[in-house]
This record gives sequence, C-alpha cells and structure tokens, in this order.
Amino acid sequence: MKVWLPRDAAARALGADAVATALISEAARRGVRLDLVRTGSRGMIWLEPLAEIYTSAGRTAFGPLTPEDVPALFDSPETHPKALGLTEEIPFFKRQTRLTFARVGLIDPLDLAEYETQGGLAGLRRALGLSPPDIVTEVTDSGLRGRGGAGFPTGVKWATVARAPGPRKYIVCNADEGDSGTFADRMLMEGDPFCLIEGMTIAALATGAAQGYCFIRSEYPDAITTMTAAVAIARDAGVLGRSVLDTGQAFDIEIRVGAGAYVCGEETALLNAIEGRRGTVRAKPPLPALQGLFGCPTVVNNVLSLATIPIILSRGAAFYRDFGIGRSRGTMPLQIAGNVRHGGLFETAFGITLGEIVTEIGGGTASGRPVKAVQVGGPLGAWFPPALFDTPLCYEEFGAKEGLVGHAGFVVLDDTADMAAYARFAMEFCAVESCGKCTPCRIGAVRAVETLDRIAAGEAAALPLLRDLCQTMRLGSLCALGGFAPYPVLSALTHFPADFGLNTEAAA
Ligand code: NAI
Ligand code: SF4
Repeated sequence: MKVWLPRDAAARALGADAVATALISEAARRGVRLDLVRTGSRGMIWLEPLAEIYTSAGRTAFGPLTPEDVPALFDSPETHPKALGLTEEIPFFKRQTRLTFARVGLIDPLDLAEYETQGGLAGLRRALGLSPPDIVTEVTDSGLRGRGGAGFPTGVKWATVARAPGPRKYIVCNADEGDSGTFADRMLMEGDPFCLIEGMTIAALATGAAQGYCFIRSEYPDAITTMTAAVAIARDAGVLGRSVLDTGQAFDIEIRVGAGAYVCGEETALLNAIEGRRGTVRAKPPLPALQGLFGCPTVVNNVLSLATIPIILSRGAAFYRDFGIGRSRGTMPLQIAGNVRHGGLFETAFGITLGEIVTEIGGGTASGRPVKAVQVGGPLGAWFPPALFDTPLCYEEFGAKEGLVGHAGFVVLDDTADMAAYARFAMEFCAVESCGKCTPCRIGAVRAVETLDRIAAGEAAALPLLRDLCQTMRLGSLCALGGFAPYPVLSALTHFPADFGLNTEAAA
C-alpha cells in the first residue's frame, strides 16, 4: 500500500506524525507492506493531516485524519468517512495554477531523482547552455517581480549585479519570513528545497556569483533541517560545488539561521546578520546590488522569487508572462489565514479579485459571521473592507487603494473584530521590532501607540497628531518597518471610524 503523508510543519502541528506512526503499526499488525512517503503539504491546511493513497484513478485524499481513522483506511478506503476523492479534483486545489508550487506535496522533498523526474533541473540545464546576459534577459522578459513584497523587477536587479564590477559576488536568499499570516516560503523550503537551490544556482550563473547564503528564520526548524539536508544532497550529486553539473562553474550554498528579529527580513539588516553584525538597517544607497554582502555586489531575493526561476528557464519567459494582468505577471502563491473556513496556500495568476480569494476560495469566515476586514500583505499591510472586494490582485491596483500585495498574506476577520485594537497592535509591533536606527520609527511608533490610546479613551482631538505621526513615519523612516506601519492604522481609521469612537467626518 502506497501512502503519501506530509511532513510539513503545519501538518505535523496538526498531528501528521501520530498518523504516520499509526499507519506503520497498523500495516505491521496486518502484515501489509507499506510504502509511506513523507511529502510537503498540498496546502489545504484545514484538511491536514491529509493522507493520499494510490489508486488506479490517481492519488485519493483522506483528511483531516487522526490515528483512530487509520484502521478504516486499510479496511475499505472507498467507504472511509474522511475520503475526499481525488486530491487534484478537490475544488480548492483544482482551481489553482501551480507553477512555483508544482511539486510541493507531490514528492519526497529530499528525493533528488524524483525531483528531476517531475521536471526539476530542466531550468538549470537550459541556463547552463545560455550566456549570462541571455539568462538575465529571460528573467526580465518573464515579468517576474520580487515576491518578498516590494515587487521590484527581478531581471533588473540581476542585471545590476551582473554589470557591477568586482571579483566576488553573492546570491542571498531571504528566507526570514516574518510577516504574520504568511507561510509560503516555509512550505516551499520544506516541500521542494531543490527548487530553491536550483533557482539560486541559476542566479549565480546569470550574475557570476560563486557563493550563496540562505538566511532562514530560527522559528522554522523544519525548513532549516530540510534545506540543510537538501544542500548536502545537491552537493554530493554535483548540482552544487566546484563544478555545477560538470560544467566547471562553481557555486555553493551555506544555510544561515536568524536569531529572531523581524527586521532581519529587511535586506540590509539581513546582510549585517550574515556578516555576524547586529541586525540593524543600513542606509540605501548603496544598493546591495552594488555593495551588499561584505561590500560586494549581491543579489538579495526572496524564496519565492528564486523558486520561480527554474520554471521560467525551463518553460521560457513567454510561458510565464502569459499569466497575470498589467505589470503583475505570472502567478502568486497566496496565503489565506485568520478567521477563514479554508485556510491554506493557493497559487494563482494575478488578476483574481480580493472577494474571490476571501469568499469563494477561503469560503468566508470560520465563525460563519460576516467578513469585516482583510489584511493584505502582512502586519504592515492595509485593512480592506468588503466594499473593496472588487480589487484585482495586482501590485498597482492594491497600491491605488492605499494598500500593498506584499508577500500575499490574507488575514480575514469577522464582524466582531475591534479595528482600533488591530491598529494599536500594528504600532505596538513596530515599536517592539524597531531596530532603533531612525527616529521616526523608534520614537514615532511609541508615540503612535500612546496617541491611539488617547483616541480610544475619547480624545478625538488627538487624531490630527496621529495622522501627522503616520505621515512622518511613512516619509521619514529608513525602511519599510517604520514606513509601512501607518498603513494598517490609516486604513482602519478610514474604513472603520466607529471602532475608534469617531464618526466618518471626524475620521476623514
Ligand atoms: P525596496 O522597494 O526598497 O527595494 C526592493 C528591492 O529592489 C530591494 O532588493 C532593493 O535593493 C532593490 N532595488 C531597488 N532599486 C534598485 C535598482 N535600481 N537596481 C537594483 N536593485 C534595486 O523595498 P524593500 O525595503 O527591500 O522591501 C519592502 C517590502 O518588503 C515591503 O513591500 C513589504 O511588503 C516587504 N516585507 C516582506 C516581509 C516578508 O516576510 N516577506 C516582511 C516585511 C516586509
Ligand atoms: Fe530601524 Fe525602524 Fe528605522 Fe527601519 S524604520 S531602520 S526598523 S528604526
């Protein structure tokens, strides 16, 4: 009997290891030969632990499983009460366009041969036959923009590094995924680590780097273990090392673990941390692309940006840019979380509306109450009310509504939420996580918490001061932490003035 069961951290947190133990002991008790493959997660977190059994029709899903559900899997899978049918026919899964996440949940993450069977290394092999400028052109033409949040064109960044003079260059993968409600980087690293390694290696070929670093937050122990093992396997197989796939081109990767500071997700603080310095933000310019790690030209890209490179190289720029709308090309792995019925990872082309994401795909709130607000793009993203649900997923469209796509986390709240408390949380978060380098953020966030408390206590006259503080933080902060903290505050004030004890005119 062949069974696939995730070893993804979310599935494990929901009991996947206990289900695995039950499967092994039940098979032994019955004398059944069990072929158990631990995979990444298919991303339907509300169905985890989700096991799949091989049938002649394909992989059939069962979930959410408990150890008590296991004996019935051996008795009669067809009539199992938790049978969900073919995995890829489950509506949440079927509706997706999985390009970056194509293999996540499908394969054993550390089986390099299976990775290759499922299309892995095709992008790297093609890149090895192209000149560095041609690789950069392919990435530029694909329209890929930085998936970490800022949306800067990846090909333009690579071209800057490729052109920059210097004997040493670096590839740095930003895997310090600190935004609340986001988990795509973690799932990718746990579910398809070779894809990230392949993307980093292609970046190295394009820019002339020989060394890469993957900086992973310490809160992701499973991702750290999987990535460390995958790098060792890739090195043994000659995918990394002194001669990448016997071409004479050298590239290797080192895994670095963060120490728990949110701000180290900011690229210059991250570079400081890799260098062994305190994780504070550096002023830009100089850009990391020109003077980054150890003062050398450095590509700093997010996990998802790098993990999307292999499919762009293997299928071609035109294939990738065919998905999406406007200047937002390709697909985005959305992370749907909070008070939502169907939370999980949903990869889709840009252009889908916020309402479709929350209502159709997410299934509305888990509590069954009306949706009040959705925060898009992490703790520093704006709150969107249902009145803005027609906004299409697109960097420019979200920007036009005073919001951001960011890392594409969607946190749903129902009508019992107190938006003034969420606004306060944003500023409190900023005050706690501030690196202290610049005054608007270090002091502004503390003053903003105090001012929000005064407004909550009925002092509406403090509102102009709050707006003034937000403006100073937005324009005067050195990095996005201080610069974006006003987004959740101002959006909550605009759309939910009553929660602050204000009427619409007073809040305007
Ligand atoms: P940014 O707009 O300053 O820069 C974006 C990237 O483009 C950087 O790597 C920068 O070095 C590069 N760049 C800019 N101009 C360039 C040029 N002319 N040539 C070459 N490279 C150039 O944004 P930043 O501060 O790097 O990121 C802010 C974003 O981070 C926010 O949008 C936020 O959504 C996101 N974020 C993501 C988190 C996560 O967990 N993924 C956590 C916190 C924030
Ligand atoms: Fe540091 Fe905050 Fe200034 Fe960013 S905005 S440099 S986190 S003090």
